[in-house]
Order: sequence, then C-alpha cells, then structure tokens
Amino acid sequence: MVAAEASDRAEELRAEINRHNYRYYVLDDPEITDAEYDRLFRELLDIETAYPELLTPDSPTQRVGSEPLAQFAAVSHRTPMLSLNNAFSEEEVAAFDRRAVEGLGLKTIEYVAEPKFDGLAVNLRYHGGIFVQGATRGDGQTGEDVTANLRTIRSIPLRLQGGEIPETLDVRGEVLIFRGDFVRLNERQRARGEKVFANPRNAAAGSLRQLDSRITAERPLRFFAYGIGELVGRQVPSLHSEALDWLSSLGLPVCAERAVVRGAKGMLDFHAAIAARRAHLPFDVDGVVYKINSIAQQRRLGFVARAPRFAVAHKFPAEEAETSVLEIAVQVGRTGALTPVARLAPVSVGGVTVANATLHNLDQIRAKDVRVGDTVVVRRAGDVIPEVVRTRPEHRPPATREFEMPGSCPECGAKIERLESEAVHRCTGGLFCPAQRKQAILHFASRRAMDVEGLGEKLVDQLVERGLLRTPADLYDPAQIDAEKLAKLDRMGEKSATNVMSAIENSKQAPLARFIFALGIYHVGEEVAKILAQHFGSLHALLGADWDTLIADKERVQKENQRRRAREDRLLDPVLPGIGPEIMQSVASFLRQPHNREVIAQLRKRQVVRDHMAITPKGATAALAGKTIVLTGTLPTLSREQARELVEAAGAKVSSSVSRKTDYVVAGAVPGSKYERAIELGVTILDEAGLKALVGKRSAEE
Ligand code: IVH
Repeated sequence: MVAAEASDRAEELRAEINRHNYRYYVLDDPEITDAEYDRLFRELLDIETAYPELLTPDSPTQRVGSEPLAQFAAVSHRTPMLSLNNAFSEEEVAAFDRRAVEGLGLKTIEYVAEPKFDGLAVNLRYHGGIFVQGATRGDGQTGEDVTANLRTIRSIPLRLQGGEIPETLDVRGEVLIFRGDFVRLNERQRARGEKVFANPRNAAAGSLRQLDSRITAERPLRFFAYGIGELVGRQVPSLHSEALDWLSSLGLPVCAERAVVRGAKGMLDFHAAIAARRAHLPFDVDGVVYKINSIAQQRRLGFVARAPRFAVAHKFPAEEAETSVLEIAVQVGRTGALTPVARLAPVSVGGVTVANATLHNLDQIRAKDVRVGDTVVVRRAGDVIPEVVRTRPEHRPPATREFEMPGSCPECGAKIERLESEAVHRCTGGLFCPAQRKQAILHFASRRAMDVEGLGEKLVDQLVERGLLRTPADLYDPAQIDAEKLAKLDRMGEKSATNVMSAIENSKQAPLARFIFALGIYHVGEEVAKILAQHFGSLHALLGADWDTLIADKERVQKENQRRRAREDRLLDPVLPGIGPEIMQSVASFLRQPHNREVIAQLRKRQVVRDHMAITPKGATAALAGKTIVLTGTLPTLSREQARELVEAAGAKVSSSVSRKTDYVVAGAVPGSKYERAIELGVTILDEAGLKALVGKRSAEE
C-alpha cells in the first residue's frame, strides 16, 4: 500500500470505527458484531504501526491507554464548574420555584428536569471538533488533566459529528459506571485478588484518577453530557433543552431521561417518576436536577457564591447512612436459621429510621469484620431489609472483640449447629423452640406428614397465640385442645371444630416414615425419613441409635470408596444407604435435644405413631458382657424373670433405675417412666427382639 492509499484507508477506518462506537456506546444499537468491529480495529492498528505519521489524536486506537504519568497536570477551567444547591423536600422545591418566579417577575417558569448522576463531574474540551483535553472538576476553578483517561471512555467521541462544529466547545458532564458493569467489574477484581469497590461512584472515581490510563481503559466508564462551558464560534442555544439536543447531535451521549416541565408541580412529577423507576435505571442517581430552560432567564438570575440561582438538585433521601453498632443480636427464624442482626444507634436512611440491620450470617460478619462499638455504613434500598454494608475501621474504639455465634439458641436453649457445607447456623430444638413453633406444627400437620386436614395457618396462628399449642404433642392433649375451644376461634364453628378434632384423631397411628418426616428435622425430607424408618424399624431403635458410631462408620466407608473411586470393589454402604454424614449429623443433633425427646415421648405416649417394637435393630452387634440393663413394660413373650435370666446369662446386670450409666433399656408394651427417662438421657432402647439379638439368640418371630 502506498502512503496516500494508507492515509485514505486510515481515515475511512477511523470514521467507520467511530461510527460503530457511537452506535454501540451512545445509541446502544450496534450494527455489526464484535468480531467485525475487532477486524476493522486490527486493520487500523496495522496501518498506524506501518505509518506512525498517520496517527491522529482522534484515532480510536488511542483509547487503550498510554504510559503512566508521574502526576496529573493542573487545568484551569475557562468558565468555573459550579456546584448545585440541594433541595430535600417538596417545600424546598416550591420555595426554589417561588424565588425564581419573583426574581424574574414571571407567572410560571419552564424548567428542564434531568437525573442527578452519581459520578464525577468532568469537562471535555473540543477544538475544531477534536477532543483535546479533559479535566476533573477539582475545586471548580482548577481541576486535574485526565485527558489520557477520558480518551479511553468509548462513549466520549474523540471527534464530534455533524456539520456545525464550533471552534471551541467545553462539554460539561458526568463520568459514571453502570450498575451491571460495576457488578462485573467487582467480580473481576475479586477473581484477580484486587481491590473490590464499595459502590459504582467509588469505582468510577478510582478509575478516572489512575495515573496509568491503561488501567482506566479496562474499567467500564461511561459519560453523560449535561451542559456547556465555554463556547467559541457559535451562538449559545437560547434554551438549555436545545443545548442538550445539540450536544446529542454532535455525537455526545446525553441521557434520554430528561423532560421540559412547568412550575413546581411539573418538577415534582418528574421527581416522582424517576424515584419510582430509580431501581430499574441502569445507573445510580441520587436525585434530579432542575434547571431553568431559558438561558436568558438563567443569566438574569445569576449566582450566589458558587451555585447558580437558576438550578437546584432535588435529592433522593440517602440510601446509606453511618451509625454505630450497639449490640449484635441473633434472631431465630421460623425454620431455625439464625440471623445475626446489628442493633444500631437509630439513624435516618432514605427517609426511614433504622435501628436494626441484618448482618446475614457469620461469614459476612467476618468478611466485613463488624464488631460491637464499630461505626458502620447501613444501606436501605427500596423495600429490602436494611443491611450493614461495611465498617469504618478508622473509627473503631479500642478493645473490641470479634463476634461469636452463641452456642445455644436464645429462644429455647437448644444447641446451635452449623453444617459444614452451609453458611447458616441453626437451632436444633425444632420441636420445642418458640421461634419455630408455628412452622413446626404446620409442617407436622401438613398433608405429606401427619395429614391433619383443616389445621391451616390461620388456625395454628390463633392456637399458638392463645397458648393452646406449644408443640405438636399438644394437638393430642385433650387438656390443651378440644372441639369446644376450637369452635370459639375466628372463622371456626362447631362443625369445622369437630372436623379438625377428628382429623387430629385420624392422624394417629401414622406409619413410622411419615412420623419421622413430620418431626421436621432439618434435611430430613420424605425420602430420608423412609430410609430411616426402614433401617431402624422402630422409634425406639431410632431414638437409641449411637449416632457418633454411625457417622464415623459412614465417613470411613465414604473415604474408603473415594480412594477406590473407579474400582469395582467399592464397599457397599450398609450404614443408612443414601444418607450422608451431614444429614446424619442433623438427625443426631435433633434427637440429642432433651426438649425434642420430651415432645417425642409425649407423642409416643399419646399413641401418635405406630411403633410395634417388633423389629430388631440392625447392626446391633455389641456383646452384653458388663453392661447395665433396665427392663420396663410388658415384653411380648418373655416374663420379667425370664428376661432377667437372659440378661444375666449374657454377663450383664439388671438395674431398677435409669441413669447415665445405663447401657440399654429394654421396653415392652405400656412402658413406664423409665422409658421416658431413657429417651431423655438418650439411652439406647431395645425391644424384646433387639435384646435377643444382642444376647445372640434368634427371637421366635424370626
Ligand atoms: S449541572 C450549574 N446537571 O452535581 C450547574 N450537575 O452539585 C452545574 N451532577 O458536580 C451542574 N448530574 O457532578 C448538573 N444533570 C446534572 C448533574 C449534575 C450530576 C453533579 C455534578 C456536579 C454536582 C453539582
């Protein structure tokens, strides 16, 4: 290619690429694919490399950043970059309008309403339509020269379009990062182990003030123009709305969210409309700006100090505020999940007083390192629950301590557990915990569990609130609930009361699997409940299981099988097949809670579960020698004396009371208080067949 040809082609490519940039970044309406764009870009780069003298400042290849600067040069603005006065209420907006009406001696005034972008103000200087210099606002008089950084922003034209190019044009506007881009940027930063930004504004500020513009080039910065500074070689438009349209026609991005409105009512309507759509806008706005539309009127009103009289920023209530953490409390949810909550010195956030903010879970507390006494930033966005966003470590008082989750439930005292794979801590007192009461009862009565028809949310709410229902066992206690009491409740009558009572009665004698499912043990769904029922065969066996050993066995088998992975000789998993150690842990913790066991014992006594005690526990292999055994209830075949002989012949001794030293309780029909004591202490309970199996004899039924 000869030089002249190269020059023509470069010029063509530049125009072409700039046009595609504009379609993509300003109009949001690309014409070609990324690959096609890349091809054009590559071709231009090749030409510029071969003929460096062809390189122009408006070449799109100049957007990739350049060698880092030692520092930013100072730029004095030709016309000052002003700030805006704020209005925080409708009254203040009305007062702004009134002052303008009086100042101008008019009846009503026309305004342009625009979003107040939450980014950084910059000035872009164009000479002969070419972007020559960009500066931050600085103190309004002098800013920093960030030309190299602004060049990397794709939505900023390096050359203006159209036929009406002025000699000199200062474009005023805002650099910002869209919310979606912000999330992706932070993901990338995190993945690279680099600084994660607190919000889009901070990310935009950090990115624009990079001495190394190659870093800026990798940041998803955007620009919106909202005004004109110096203008040479063309008449200033007579209306601000015309100025915005003109800037747009030059290829500059001007936000489409703008309107010409009349009077205070017009401004407030716009404010309400933007406020309603705020969450759906792709970028953060912290309010709206009203500017008198007529430039002549603007000039007549002039300025006070550094802010114009002709414009005002009507701010949205701040969504973030700072306050201090008085306490970190723990809330127990309906399902037993624990949520740490910061109790705060009350603070107004977005117009609402906030005294509590969620900390989500322990991992989040650790990540943000929140402690009692800390100054924190709380955020309340729309309808979401206020949350602690971050701490201000520089304000931390001396001698603070790391927060620890409580070991026992603040509501019921049951043990708090956290399963290894989960972020959430849970209360294991599901059947008894007041926080979980309603949920536990509703689940217990639900169709796939005990199926108590008619016992819905409204009824359970009333029964719980009246203190008639504390646990599922109360359902079957005539001292707590009867048809008469039910009939007196809201939306209930005699007929529905008797229906519910008979549904309760009919739910008794549920198969073991349903009963286990109904207990609402975390992680125990219908399938797991079936496996447990099949394996243990009776509630006694389930309650008496040695979970530590079972879990240890399970882990051993799993580990061994992992080692043998692909091999044929993998071990069969005889220990609760299909149930992993985490679920087993959850079952064990639930059954270890004395309160849960009490409720189960009550249910058992009220004959809510079919439990024939006829099935021998599998895997019971330990010899009886040296063990202490307690007998209770009537055994199906053996007399008390025969049972005693059997036990003693096996080298064990029979004791008359249950204590922690008791190894087994052998229970028959209608067991006494020893049985309940055994449940309470977690002593393994056997039926006659179980005893015989341990002794080494086969039972008659088998
Ligand atoms: S006009 C004479 N319009 O608000 C008026 N400013 O407090 C000068 N801002 O530093 C500003 N969105 O960063 C104007 N649509 C908008 C704006 C806006 C955001 C910022 C700008 C400026 C600050 C003034």
